[in-house]
Amino acid sequence: MRDLVAENKLSSDDLIQPIFIADQKEMNIEIPSMPGIFRHSLDSLYSETEALLNAGVKSMAIFPAIGPDKKNAEASHAFDKDNIVCRALEGIKQRFPEIVTIADVALDPYTDHGHDGLLIDEKIDNDQTLNLLSKQALLLAEAGADIIAPSDMMDGRVKIIRDALETNQFKDTVILSYAAKYASSFYGPFRDAVGSAANLGKGSKETYQMNFANTQEAMHEVAMDIQEGADVVMVKPGTAYLDVVQKIKSEFQIPTFVYQVSGEYSMLTLSIEKGWLDKNVMIESLLCCKRAGADAILTYAAKQIASELNS
Ligand code: PBG
Repeated sequence: MRDLVAENKLSSDDLIQPIFIADQKEMNIEIPSMPGIFRHSLDSLYSETEALLNAGVKSMAIFPAIGPDKKNAEASHAFDKDNIVCRALEGIKQRFPEIVTIADVALDPYTDHGHDGLLIDEKIDNDQTLNLLSKQALLLAEAGADIIAPSDMMDGRVKIIRDALETNQFKDTVILSYAAKYASSFYGPFRDAVGSAANLGKGSKETYQMNFANTQEAMHEVAMDIQEGADVVMVKPGTAYLDVVQKIKSEFQIPTFVYQVSGEYSMLTLSIEKGWLDKNVMIESLLCCKRAGADAILTYAAKQIASELNS
């Protein structure tokens, strides 16, 4: 009876797996602050992709951990056709053309200071970053990304990326914009995973990520990104920001994704491991994202929850 009258459902169709990759000899290396989550070599990435498909997950978002020797102030390795992300996208497309690949656009994995944009005179320069982002987006589309996901929060980047895709035969490439991305301490474990925290100085991305006190600003950001050509918008983090999701969904009726970020995953997973919370808490938190209006959810628990839901 409870199922008959349930208003929302969670299925493996709703789940997207974020995945970390690195140039490394070992097959995979566990990330200390994210139990059960690994940095994969390319070979390990391909077997993981197969496991995702078998579990019923239909999409993955790729994030690189770049060696310190390849990072610099200009993020130049981001524009190298042979970087690990481009090789991974090509390799996945060859082997598993059916999985939907999402590639992040932002400079932080490649900059020695860990910021998403160019640092000029101690400040992130929005406008000088834009051309680099469109160059990066184009490279990722060429490598086979189905979805380009700018996570950098520079103003005007959706338009410049859309123009670059349209004028270069990538009319079908989808733009998933991290439209309402807050300056959040919930990203800590992710920065460990990709090694982008080391040089963040005062730790602040506050000149480009949003103040967690604001919702109207989120509406403004989403409106701009839609106008500039975004196909899907995203709210990040998830659980503590579901009021923002609901508001976006009811105001704009556009596909809206939620990112249950690293810190949320680690809090829940650790508590489950310790026996302090029941393991059902993960499904609860994901279903609540759907109740708020999310069409899909990026979650590090995607593979595990999809196999639970489908078994
Ligand atoms: C950076 C980026 C971040 C995440 C995704 N892309 C971190 C940041 O802004 O520092 C965080 C994801 C997570 O915490 O799981 N462009």
